[in-house]
Amino acid sequence: MKYDFDHAAPRTGTYSYKWDQSEKLFGRADVLPLWVADMDFHPPKEVVDAIVQRAELGVYGYTIRPQEYYDAVSGWLMRRHGWDIRHEWITSSPGVVAALSLVVHAFTKPGDKVILQSPVYYPFYDVIRMNDCTLVENPLILNNNRYEIDFDLLERQAADGAKLMLLCSPHNPGGRVWTRDELARIGEICLRHGVLVVADEIHHDLVFRGSRHTPFASISESFAQNSFTCIAASKTFNLAGLQASSVIVPNDDLRRRYNYALKKFSLHMESYFGVSSVISSYTYGDEWLDQLLNYLQGNLDYLTGFMAERLPEVRVMKPDATYLVWMDCRDISADPAELKKLMYEEAGVAFNEGSTYGEPGKGWLRVNIACPRVLLAEALERFASAVRARKP
Ligand SMILES: Cc1ncc(COP(=O)(O)O)c(C=O)c1O
Repeated sequence: MKYDFDHAAPRTGTYSYKWDQSEKLFGRADVLPLWVADMDFHPPKEVVDAIVQRAELGVYGYTIRPQEYYDAVSGWLMRRHGWDIRHEWITSSPGVVAALSLVVHAFTKPGDKVILQSPVYYPFYDVIRMNDCTLVENPLILNNNRYEIDFDLLERQAADGAKLMLLCSPHNPGGRVWTRDELARIGEICLRHGVLVVADEIHHDLVFRGSRHTPFASISESFAQNSFTCIAASKTFNLAGLQASSVIVPNDDLRRRYNYALKKFSLHMESYFGVSSVISSYTYGDEWLDQLLNYLQGNLDYLTGFMAERLPEVRVMKPDATYLVWMDCRDISADPAELKKLMYEEAGVAFNEGSTYGEPGKGWLRVNIACPRVLLAEALERFASAVRARKP
């Protein structure tokens, strides 16, 4: 079946976080929203059918994870990522951010040091600070408009008593797919100094041609035993409202302690629709995903071409993965307030404002390209016209 990504699912008036808040958040109802990381596309037909069938059952009681769930998750990881996992390693969480927070909660004491690599998806900061831990920032190095890891600093920070490292792999907002070597170096450093690794691999399926994601825990048995891996069909298949993520924890003791925390906050019950969405998407979603990735590549090429021609002062970071494009707009303005004014008031578009990803994000914007190309084109046109209108 050929999927049609050129036509958006109408989302205004659907209680959409992205589409129904423009007036409230940006002061204008007509702002085009290309920010929060969900897509404007329908998921695979089989997933919609599974949800509809489940809705038609008409009883929405407490729900378990059946054998099909475990088969679907492990089958997907094997098929798409060559990672052979055992069913008993799989546990869950409503969302990946909840899983990150649970791990920080369960494996640290107040004041403990937790490492992140900035700029990074802003809830990484929240889950460290809101669990009363000390944030240790390992800033990524910008080299030729591409992020690299400062391993020397990481070694010193790990040696300085850090308890956990939150690893964003692939990286949001930079779109880097970390190489096997880079991940192995991170893993070795963390093992040497007793730092647990929490690998947020939610973007693992959204990888462009030419790159290959390596699951951190698949690199070696010792990495597997020292890590948590968080994934979610919700990101890959646009099901974020269904709240069903999976957490892979090969180490029995770590998994027992994670599950204790899950129970402590009573987050262990499954979402009635979430379970069906995981089973159906991981069972039938391969072809849809392959077509989606082609479409996203087209959108990325469109954006890159547009910017080179119309706004060459904007440096676009070429992502290996994710449908999020990180753009260095410091030659327009390095002031976050100015960039917001430009987007919301002058252009009528909402990209994500970079400083929310940490200090190194100041003067950057993040564009969500998971929308029909006409919408992307309209948003870029609005943005470019607003920038040009500023020039004397
Ligand atoms: C790196 C990363 N982790 C987690 C999430 C959100 O996950 P969830 O909605 O499952 O909490 C996102 C969403 O954009 C993300 O980019």
